[in-house]
Amino acid sequence: MNRRANIVALLAALAFLPQLLAFRADKKPLNIKTAMTKLKDGLKAIETNAADPKKHPQCLSGVLDLEDAVNGAKLSDPPLAGKQAKEERAAYVRDYRKAMIELQKDLLDLEAAVLDGDAEKIKAACDKVGSAQNAGHSKFNPRK
Ligand code: HEM
Repeated sequence: MNRRANIVALLAALAFLPQLLAFRADKKPLNIKTAMTKLKDGLKAIETNAADPKKHPQCLSGVLDLEDAVNGAKLSDPPLAGKQAKEERAAYVRDYRKAMIELQKDLLDLEAAVLDGDAEKIKAACDKVGSAQNAGHSKFNPRK
């Protein structure tokens, strides 16, 4: 694609962005802080219970709750959206949603590891989910 075609494609994508974000209108967003606190506590519980196969059903139900929480919270606008320059706000909200989608993928990997009943895999998948915190927070929840 030449430069002009790239610019046209970019402008078309930006023009479509508000409609794209409006597709969440029929879903009720969840409070991000509530979901994140659930994520932190739930992950800790899964890590603790991973070593005991009798507790794997509990881990599975826990990971499903976390998937629900993140799915709901990805539809909320991050608190700092309102602080972005007006022309950058929609892209900031879109980037937050994409980061949360990556987090959902990591949670699905965790779910698969629990189904396999493999404590090492569960631990590694929990670490991967937890490591999303630094990257996610540096852009969307920086320390005040
Ligand atoms: C894609 C990755 C992530 C993003 C984009 C993200 C984004 C955010 C945002 C925007 C908030 C502020 C919510 C508010 O004040 O209303 C927040 C808070 C929080 N997040 Fe995350 N987060 C991510 C991953 C994680 C992970 C993996 C954990 C823990 C395992 C986590 C734990 C928390 C906690 C505990 C809070 C509340 C902090 C407080 O006390 O104010 N986050 N996160």
